[in-house]
Amino acid sequence: MAATRTSSFDDPFYQPADEFFPANCKIGLTFDDITLATMYSEILPRDTQLDPILADKRHLHIPIISADMDTVTDSRMAIAMALNGGLGLIHYNMSEHQQLSEVSRVKNHVHGLIQDPIKFAPGQLIGDVLDLIEHKKFGFSTFPIVDEKGKLVGLLSGHVVKPRYAAKKVSEALTPRAQVHTIKKKELGKDPIARADKFFTEHIGIHKLLVVDDDDRLHGLITMSDVERITQERKAQFKPARDEHFHLICGAAVSATRNAFGELDRERVLKHVSALVERGMDVVAVSTAHSFSKGVGDTVRVLRDAFPKLPIIAGNVTGAAGVEYLADCGANAIKIGQGPGSICTTRIVAGVGIPQMTALYVCSRAAARKKVTLLSDGGITKSGDIVKALTLAQAVICGGIFAGCNEAPGEVVEIGGKYYKNYRGMGSLAAMKAGSAARYGHEKNPAQKVAPEGVEALKEACGSVDRVLAQLIGGIQSGMGYLGAKNLEQLHTKARYIRVSPAGMREAAPHDVVELKTGN
Ligand code: XMP
Repeated sequence: MAATRTSSFDDPFYQPADEFFPANCKIGLTFDDITLATMYSEILPRDTQLDPILADKRHLHIPIISADMDTVTDSRMAIAMALNGGLGLIHYNMSEHQQLSEVSRVKNHVHGLIQDPIKFAPGQLIGDVLDLIEHKKFGFSTFPIVDEKGKLVGLLSGHVVKPRYAAKKVSEALTPRAQVHTIKKKELGKDPIARADKFFTEHIGIHKLLVVDDDDRLHGLITMSDVERITQERKAQFKPARDEHFHLICGAAVSATRNAFGELDRERVLKHVSALVERGMDVVAVSTAHSFSKGVGDTVRVLRDAFPKLPIIAGNVTGAAGVEYLADCGANAIKIGQGPGSICTTRIVAGVGIPQMTALYVCSRAAARKKVTLLSDGGITKSGDIVKALTLAQAVICGGIFAGCNEAPGEVVEIGGKYYKNYRGMGSLAAMKAGSAARYGHEKNPAQKVAPEGVEALKEACGSVDRVLAQLIGGIQSGMGYLGAKNLEQLHTKARYIRVSPAGMREAAPHDVVELKTGN
């Protein structure tokens, strides 16, 4: 007889979501209020699949997104997130122009084939090249040189791009066409990276390969460092999140911007989002503290009409009605969370908000009916919280967990021999003064806002995003192994919940020992 894998003795104690949450509907529950029962498993943690689908054709490889906060996500964080298979949402506490540049930085980060490389004309001066490098903050200094018809004239190598040659013409310093290594576009074949990899192995010391057409017009540039990185990435368990052109995936947040009459400024929102789309932004997040609102709904509608295929995240809400409203307006993914964030004071200041697991359950049922993705936003302090959130949501958004990373904006400060980075709520006075007041409905005069809904804080510096994500992913995979869940869908169906008493919660953390090393 086959061994049994379930028992009716378990059933009244360890309940599936649709029994557990309705049975506890009189009380708001959050991560530490519950624990998950382990289930029969044939799944090893390392064999679990973590790919969530954000929206049509936008696949991530891990279900983790960095928050659109000015102390968490600019281009550096977004690049690190995408390289690890996740997503960064570039915050909007900066000028629109700057946000466009941040998105461009992510989208241009690593290319297999740089299709439109920066190039110069033979008549320009080395000084012009140096100026552009300085102005655009390029991290490279070798450039193809083309004539007015786009034909390749030569290559300007980094070792001649020096201030001492500033007054010289590019034509005097370039490596002439005959000595430049090129490949015809049609010879690249189906796998340009493999072809270029072979080329670099065969040509010792050559690090750049220019791509030309039959008329010798420049069509692109492949660098050895990009090829090596991409070849390496292909072997990794979690591949970078890329678009169909092999660019890293990037999200950006916008607010429901109002005009002087307090109405939605459609033209401005549309103009800015069009520019973001032009730069290659893959997903836009209409991000405000209270999104079950006309302003956010109208913004989502305007964007959906103008960009039928653009994935739109909207939020935050904590109720089924809010999810249904935003889904009907055209959002693909809804952010859930009001007040769970580590820097949030919304519940204290405004007396509103719902503990996160209850909010997620209620919203998840509406999301399933409307076929939209659910993102659990805020309150994550450990990988176990992510596992719990992922039993109901498709991905999590984290701020505090990444704010101490090298890739987060801001400098490391030393206090009493320890190292920290600043982390502030977007509803804190400082962040609102810097521009985020619209998120909290106070854009008219942020300086006069007397009740901020977030605090300014410090997070201990915690090294690279790669390291933090490795820990989080390890924890998620471990949780999935315990539940016998091969993928995120199975995590939803296999989850069985039980409430935890205060004593049970104490039992869950290390106790009655002198800790020598933390779990991290
Ligand atoms: P964690 O817990 O990851 O939370 O640090 C990040 C999320 O918190 C939200 N957020 C705020 N909520 N006041 C709030 O009530 C604020 O000032 C504030 N700033 C950010 C936001 O959803 C973020 O992703």
